[in-house]
Amino acid sequence: MHLPNFLEARTRDKRNYSRVDFSFDSKLQNKYQGKTYYIKTYGCQMNEHDSENIAALLEQLGFQKVDKYTQADFILLNTCSIRENAHNKAFGMLGRIKHLRNEKKDIIVGICGCMAQEESVVERILRDYKFVNFVLGTHNMHQLPEVIEKSIQENKQQIEVFSREGDLYEGLPVLRTNSYKAYVNIIYGCDKFCTYCIVPYTRGRERSRKKEDILNEINTLIRDGYKEVTLLGQNVNAYGKDLYDDYHMDQLLEDVAKTGIPRVRFMTSHPWDFTDRMIDVIAKYPNIMPSIHLPIQSGSNQVLKRMGRRYTKESYLELFHKMKEKIPRVTISTDIIVGFPGESEEDFLETMKVVEECRFDNAFTFIFSVRKGTPAEKLEDHISLEEKEERLQRLNTVINQIFLEKNQKLEGSSLEVLVEGISSKKKMYFGYSDTNKLINFTSEKPLEVGDIVSVKITSAKTWSLDGEV
Ligand code: 5AD
Ligand code: SF4
Repeated sequence: MHLPNFLEARTRDKRNYSRVDFSFDSKLQNKYQGKTYYIKTYGCQMNEHDSENIAALLEQLGFQKVDKYTQADFILLNTCSIRENAHNKAFGMLGRIKHLRNEKKDIIVGICGCMAQEESVVERILRDYKFVNFVLGTHNMHQLPEVIEKSIQENKQQIEVFSREGDLYEGLPVLRTNSYKAYVNIIYGCDKFCTYCIVPYTRGRERSRKKEDILNEINTLIRDGYKEVTLLGQNVNAYGKDLYDDYHMDQLLEDVAKTGIPRVRFMTSHPWDFTDRMIDVIAKYPNIMPSIHLPIQSGSNQVLKRMGRRYTKESYLELFHKMKEKIPRVTISTDIIVGFPGESEEDFLETMKVVEECRFDNAFTFIFSVRKGTPAEKLEDHISLEEKEERLQRLNTVINQIFLEKNQKLEGSSLEVLVEGISSKKKMYFGYSDTNKLINFTSEKPLEVGDIVSVKITSAKTWSLDGEV
């Protein structure tokens, strides 16, 4: 049994990690044929992509996917820790599974993902959810087959969570949910330690994949007919810094663009290490999509300082305007936290001012949620929840109005869209533009999923656009 430990997770050193090729234990191949599985995924794209690896591991074990948890012999929750409501959703689901267990005694229940890395969560599971068969951490997902096997054979709860990242596994099987758009991890973990954020504790220090492994994966995707890759990391801009002296995100982006895949996206970018070279590369290659997610979090320098964000409002704006100037048609989206401890009305108005200046194309807005073990947990917080909710509402009213106005400006123009599917109700196609706008559209000529077409925008809504080919 390995229990998580935040003190250990917080300790960072420059240890080298090894790159290990994953191999599946052939004794377990198809061992659970006839059994079914259900994975519930919470949180970010990183988790979604992990679930694609997990699904492939389970199918190699012989499990078959079902669409309802009530039909499954094995239920796995791939969890998220980023805010309290992510916790609540997972614990709510555990409550429902507890009921199900009363009728179906022999279902196996596992928990993985970020919550598995939290001491307080694992303590609660050990205390209140004894039926959970195993908890598996984010650093040792490759052990899933043996942990399932062990929890069945030994019939006791397995807690396998390493708080320090060990090896970086390559060659895990993957069962992708989309045949045209793929996620590709480029860097794991985060070293930034923003004071509110739990990610550095749950995902470990920054570890880049080797460039050859990334490019090989993308070349295979191209051969398989993929049209779009999204390069994933908690902070993709730190790519390569832990691994190479002279090969960083700008070069990787350029090499990925040169593979010729029609669309390249990447997320998430910390403004602190977004270089001019990266901007030049994005501007130079038409297959790098002109759409950047650049979280600002707050527009107040005092709050940014307490958040440990390493930039000021002024330096963020400088970067923002440089991108707008150098990358034709670029759209920029952001994340904003309101109600960070000590945020005054003036601080909040600073954020509103920056929002009015930047007029983001999309923004994810959150109320600060205190995470156990992070430095912000110790900051004094005078603002009531009502006040935070009221600030969030004021912010959302302004950003929604901006989204609508910006979308309305697109009426009459044409955008390149990757066809993702057909919405059955209205016989409409849908997909995202190069600038990452969701578009619902019609076409006289039948289209295939995976086609890239030019769509004329006919009308604008706050969150999407309507159009025709
Ligand atoms: N409370 C609220 N929002 C948070 N985020 C990260 N940690 C917290 C927290 N403790 C938000 C940030 C980040 C996004 C992924 O989630 O805005 O960019
Ligand atoms: Fe969290 Fe900051 Fe790292 Fe993003 S950059 S994952 S907000 S610590």
